[in-house]
Amino acid sequence: MASRVDPQELRAQCAAELDSRPTGHFHERPWLREAFLAVPREHFVPDQVWWPHPGADGLHPVIDRAVRPRSWLRAVYTAQASLITQVADGRVQPQDGPTKEAFTSAASCPAVVVDMLHYLDPHPGDRALEIGTGTGYSTALLAQRIPPQHLVSVEIDEHLADLARNKLAHLGLRPTVVCADGERGYPGRAPYTRIISTAAVRRIPQAWLDQAAPGAVIITPFNGPFGHDALLRLVADGNGGAQGRLVTGVAFMKVRGQREERPYSELGWPTATDTWPTYADADYRVTLRDGQQSIQIVPSPT
Ligand SMILES: C[S@@+](CC[C@H](N)C(=O)[O-])C[C@H]1O[C@@H](n2cnc3c(N)ncnc32)[C@H](O)[C@@H]1O
Repeated sequence: MASRVDPQELRAQCAAELDSRPTGHFHERPWLREAFLAVPREHFVPDQVWWPHPGADGLHPVIDRAVRPRSWLRAVYTAQASLITQVADGRVQPQDGPTKEAFTSAASCPAVVVDMLHYLDPHPGDRALEIGTGTGYSTALLAQRIPPQHLVSVEIDEHLADLARNKLAHLGLRPTVVCADGERGYPGRAPYTRIISTAAVRRIPQAWLDQAAPGAVIITPFNGPFGHDALLRLVADGNGGAQGRLVTGVAFMKVRGQREERPYSELGWPTATDTWPTYADADYRVTLRDGQQSIQIVPSPT
């Protein structure tokens, strides 16, 4: 007889794996471990998703809950895998089969979701803005920490925003979920003390800085010239500027308005070198001031 797969057990195993990482971030944020254990990720992941790693044919296979329920559930609780929930802005559906279309929405991998919330470090008194609701899973984790009247999540895709709002409500979670372009922030509820984007930017939108309270923490994947994105943690000055640094490497889809590549020199990066130092070897400092973005690389003292 096939072994039973219990979602709660898998969730606990996944949490234990996150805990065991050298850079695991549950240790310092007990609320985050509790939130992770309380939120059923399987409730937010669609029944059909694409696996992020392509097969030998170069196509991303579909995992269908109805066909392979145990594989689907294991995929939901794989700490290091994101699950692709939309490609080509929804023009291609999972029923169309394996794909090599561009990813346009995903349930981000649990390890990265946890890392981002660790760096965001939200508190119950915060007013938070999330850009990129996607499935609503990261919103649900945030909602374990921030009361609904102080939590806004913005998703550019109307269908995804509606789906996530309904999924959240089904669990009794009622943050404001709006369909809008998150690059404009959400001025109606500003100023925010925490801003998190789950889609990458090449340039920090000025609206985020303008809507950030003094001392607000902004976390976003930030595209860089070293071949991947990095997680950027900024602290806003409340005056349209901010300062911060890159904390770790990640990989994310870009916000819709910033999909096109731009010369890095235009984005405030220093002149290309043959080898970019690792985050351990150097501090990548990002400064936003007077509408200008600049990145400085300061070698760590040896
Ligand atoms: C990696 S997914 C989000 C993952 C999500 N937080 C989760 O846990 O499921 C990124 C999302 O950002 C959305 N997005 C892209 N550009 C956007 C924009 N300008 N404003 C708001 N959402 C945007 C995409 O539609 C996509 O759903």
